[in-house]
Amino acid sequence: MLEKIDELLIEVQNFTSANKDEIEQFRIRFSGKKGILNEIFGKFKDVPNEQKKEFGQKINTLKQAVESKLTDLKNAGTSQIIQIKEDLTRPGFPAELGTRHPINLVKNRIIEIFKSIGFAVADGPEIEDDWHNFTALNLPEYHPARDMQDTFFLETDPDILLRTHTSSVQIRYMEENQPPIRILSPGRVFRNEAISSRSHCIFHQIEGLYIDENVSFADLKQTLQFFTTELFGKSKIRLRPSYFPFTEPSAEVDVYWGLNSETDYRITKGTGWLEIMGCGMVDPAVLQNVNIDADKYSGYAFGMGIERIVMLLYQMGDIRMFFENDKRMLQQFKSL
Ligand code: DAH
Repeated sequence: MLEKIDELLIEVQNFTSANKDEIEQFRIRFSGKKGILNEIFGKFKDVPNEQKKEFGQKINTLKQAVESKLTDLKNAGTSQIIQIKEDLTRPGFPAELGTRHPINLVKNRIIEIFKSIGFAVADGPEIEDDWHNFTALNLPEYHPARDMQDTFFLETDPDILLRTHTSSVQIRYMEENQPPIRILSPGRVFRNEAISSRSHCIFHQIEGLYIDENVSFADLKQTLQFFTTELFGKSKIRLRPSYFPFTEPSAEVDVYWGLNSETDYRITKGTGWLEIMGCGMVDPAVLQNVNIDADKYSGYAFGMGIERIVMLLYQMGDIRMFFENDKRMLQQFKSL
């Protein structure tokens, strides 16, 4: 009899089925009124006294094994049902709605402003050759101004590189189109700079270019003033003489931010003025490089870093925040 119980225990432990009817049959066979367990319990009184203890233990073990097997099979069954339900009828996991990146929000705003005065958007490649990124822009080989833009070269001789500025799109566009030209070119640019809170090896620029007959420096200033008024609500600007190889004369544009708050003092270093872009009259040598008649046409160009403007508008302290993809930061721009 003891051996028989051992055999039954192994049978119970090995039993498995995903079929409801089979499981029910198993239950009836062991735990039913006329089932094996009751039958064995019934024989308990006939067992010789010296075997009673061992018999009792074995039969209890068997009973527990039957119960736990039934629970296991039941659980497996229900989780299978749940799984099927999940696959077939669940209405999908809720997808979180994304938000526009602050850089794109500001980029789009800037495009909107210039579109309203007739600028079209032009695109160019991020991988450039030496001609479009440097040489045609009046930055010949060994020109010291090249040192200002530490470059990621992909190939040398001939040089292929990640563009260091969006000014390359000026060249590409002028090679394909004759004046009048009025374009805005936003995009990513790359510089091999040490990462600090003030610089990042990837950032974004927006380039502007206007070429037509009789375009003057006054047109440039007027356009920039319109732009700062639209974007910042500030119309006071100044142009400080500067140098860029592709413009002559060249200038840095400062906007008068004011000194109304402590933050104003901090971000303008106590001057009230903030530098927001570079600009100038397109150098005739550049026009000649792209076969545009420099005697007939003139024009202006400007270039600004988008991150810097976003930081100004939203008072952000560290450019690296734009590239960390931290949702806690990005979600704050949901409502814009
Ligand atoms: N390409 C310049 C830079 O990356 C910015 C710039 C300055 C662009 C003057 C222009 C310009 O078109 O006229 O620093």
